[in-house]
Amino acid sequence: MSGTLGVAVIGAGRMGADHVRRFGVTVGGARVVAVADPDGDRAKEVAASAEGASAHTDPAAALAAPGVGAVVIASPGPAHEEALLAALELDLPVLCEKPLTPDAAGALRVLEAEQRLGRRRIQVGFMRRYDAEYVRLKELLDAGGIGRPLFLHCRHRNASSPSFFTSGMLISDSVVHEVDAARWLLGQEVTAVSVLSPASSAGAPEGLRDPQLVLMETSGGAIVDVEVFVNCGFGYQVRCEAVGEAGSARIGEGRTMDVEAAGRRSEEIVQDFTVRFADAYDRQLRAWVAAAARGRVTGPDAWDGYAAAAVSEAGLTALRTGVRTPVEMAGRPPLYH
Ligand code: NAI
Repeated sequence: MSGTLGVAVIGAGRMGADHVRRFGVTVGGARVVAVADPDGDRAKEVAASAEGASAHTDPAAALAAPGVGAVVIASPGPAHEEALLAALELDLPVLCEKPLTPDAAGALRVLEAEQRLGRRRIQVGFMRRYDAEYVRLKELLDAGGIGRPLFLHCRHRNASSPSFFTSGMLISDSVVHEVDAARWLLGQEVTAVSVLSPASSAGAPEGLRDPQLVLMETSGGAIVDVEVFVNCGFGYQVRCEAVGEAGSARIGEGRTMDVEAAGRRSEEIVQDFTVRFADAYDRQLRAWVAAAARGRVTGPDAWDGYAAAAVSEAGLTALRTGVRTPVEMAGRPPLYH
């Protein structure tokens, strides 16, 4: 179809399949033409859900498929760098799920490749920037509605974590969302990270340090605290209270439906991110398609992905050593100003 962006999807797991479904149902202007996953059956199953899409076990074959004009990367974080470099080689616009890369050194190699290309091609899947509540909070802060921000008190709770989750992934996979949200909401960089953890919850798998309290200091003198608890058992909650010199604002209270029955009043709690952030994922993908069609990147870019990786790395050191760890960041290249 002329005027329609042909998309290759690399990684056909939970997020990859969800993005493919979105292109078919809620996001216009693009269609999935190729799907890659080392699990060939999975690739075929997800490709079959998009009319005319081819299935591949090799990401390079999917990128080379006829009609590919853009890429969504939804493989696990450690596989992102290779796919990103291949997409940049072909000068294709990319939406890469978070984290850009799990480590800052890998993210720097991606930044270097993009600078060699000479234009920004990568958007990172920090979809909270597209969530209506986060957008309202950002507008309030930017307008000075609660004065100079002093604290962000954040809560990030999942009912349960995947079996492969490690103590470090609470920071590099979960809190990385708060890292980006804090940088974006405050317009400041994170300068140091400390991590405290209470006795692990009996509901967490053996050996997992869950929950944790991650404290971030910012360049403008604010403090961001994040309670991350990925086996809380009762549901999915992402909350943020901003406290400023002249007021406070709270988002993520998750009001859904009150039920009154059998002598009790109760409220439903959302169980996972695909429900809580459904609209944000849609808006993120629509914005990416619209920008890609104009050869542009308008959302969080590779620099934001690098900055988050650098903060994660400091967080992982703080978790391991128990010591407050300064964030080491390279200078911001002109391409990202
Ligand atoms: P998943 O485990 O459900 O799916 C990953 C898929 O990638 C699997 O089908 C696997 O076979 C495939 N894969 C493995 N190595 C590959 C490679 N080298 N090339 C291509 N495919 C490969 O994982 P999930 O939850 O879908 O996560 C994927 C990405 O999305 C991760 O980066 C994760 O951090 C991110 N994510 C983002 C969320 C958000 O809210 N923005 C929420 C959950 C995950």
